[in-house]
Amino acid sequence: MTAPEFRTIIEPFRIHSVEPLRITTQAERETAIRAAGYNLFNLHADDVLIDLLTDSGTGAMSRDQWAAIQHGDESYAGSPSWFRFLEAVQTLFPFPHVIPTHQGRAAEKILFTAIGGAGKVIPNNTHFDTTRANVEFTGAEAVDLVIPEGREPANEHPFKGNMDLGALEALLTERTADVPAVFVTITNNSGGGQPVSLENLHGVRDVCDRFAVPLFLDACRFAENAWFIRSRETGQGDRDVIDIVREIAGLADGMTMSAKKDPLANIGGWLAMRDDALAERCRNLLILTEGFPTYGGLAGRDLEAIAQGLTEAVNHDYLRYRIRSTAYLGEALDAAGVPVVKPIGGHAVYLDARALLPHVPPLSYPGQALAVALFEAGGIRGCEIGTVMFGRRPDGTESPAAMDLVRLAIPRRTYTQSHVDFVIEVVTSVAARAAELPGYRIVDEPPALRHFTARFEPLG
Ligand code: F0G
Repeated sequence: MTAPEFRTIIEPFRIHSVEPLRITTQAERETAIRAAGYNLFNLHADDVLIDLLTDSGTGAMSRDQWAAIQHGDESYAGSPSWFRFLEAVQTLFPFPHVIPTHQGRAAEKILFTAIGGAGKVIPNNTHFDTTRANVEFTGAEAVDLVIPEGREPANEHPFKGNMDLGALEALLTERTADVPAVFVTITNNSGGGQPVSLENLHGVRDVCDRFAVPLFLDACRFAENAWFIRSRETGQGDRDVIDIVREIAGLADGMTMSAKKDPLANIGGWLAMRDDALAERCRNLLILTEGFPTYGGLAGRDLEAIAQGLTEAVNHDYLRYRIRSTAYLGEALDAAGVPVVKPIGGHAVYLDARALLPHVPPLSYPGQALAVALFEAGGIRGCEIGTVMFGRRPDGTESPAAMDLVRLAIPRRTYTQSHVDFVIEVVTSVAARAAELPGYRIVDEPPALRHFTARFEPLG
């Protein structure tokens, strides 16, 4: 007899230590958000009930990660914790050089300092904002070459993170000498948490080979991407995720990583590569700002937490639950008629605020209006990804971003299904009265990255 198949996909863990949530009233939340200048980054996190601002560093560590922390060895050089970290990284990503950093953007800063500069151009499917900023800070140009389907919120293409190979080839034909590396971000965060197919990664490798240009991965959500490959790509359904990850790593010449995402740590990252000479330059930069090459920007205990987290990140039961629970939220909102980016990505659900609030023009920030309303109604903190974040141009003018979205990012292993059911109820009820939500105007903003600190006022 075979065991019966049950439909419900459960959390493959039980809870061992809990953190209290502070239940607030709508009046308290309205006071808090007004005091914060209607900017959700300005809130005290204690005033937030369900925090979906980011999946970065906000996951719950396991019993085994906390235990690993007790093994943290804080030797300045050659700590055993470093060797455990190195082995865990190289099991998945067998690059000869691994350079630990305090988080992803530190790896980016070091790499682009070494390979960027005026006149250079870095293609990517879509640069994450810190990646773009670190490229541009060196004077280089950051170009996004995701397939056209990746820019259409309602398009159900299974691999909307794929690189447009024709566009990549055209860029390289014109400017090979200016391209120090091609990047692929897995999954494509700025494009909706959408995966890149193995076939597309092989295609990018072929193009890079033809032009003799190295390929780097921004691999923060590599395990979620591998799970999508296993579940959506023809011929991949029987493979072990570890195997898929190794194949992806084998296609690349190097990678940047934020250990705050799939590796299930609260802090950390690394830069890895094959090229000996480049690694030496990067290590010299590392020593200037991060630390000695066997700890980078991290304590020994952080290295231990990451090493253990990496073994948990590729567990099939965990990934099945992880991807399913994100889809559960997205599908429920879709069924309730709330416009969302489709298909549902790995780490977040993106609400299409421009479609939901057609009475609020982009320059009155429909994403901000929706994000504030979700907080006031139910204490849910999402993140505007739209005209507030991208609307201010370097020349000082303002124009609508390509989309006005609100990202509900799901911290790993942190919230239960009833938390998510509550989110569904709150979003659905706010959506039902979307026509009443006011737009906003900015009353104070810094010259760059204004979404973090700008202050707003409701219109009317
Ligand atoms: N690359 C991608 C694709 C990211 O999503 C992030 C961070 C980074 C690089 C930078 O890593 O934060 O460790 O320096 N994304 C977070 C987010 C902040 O909310 O999506 P970091």
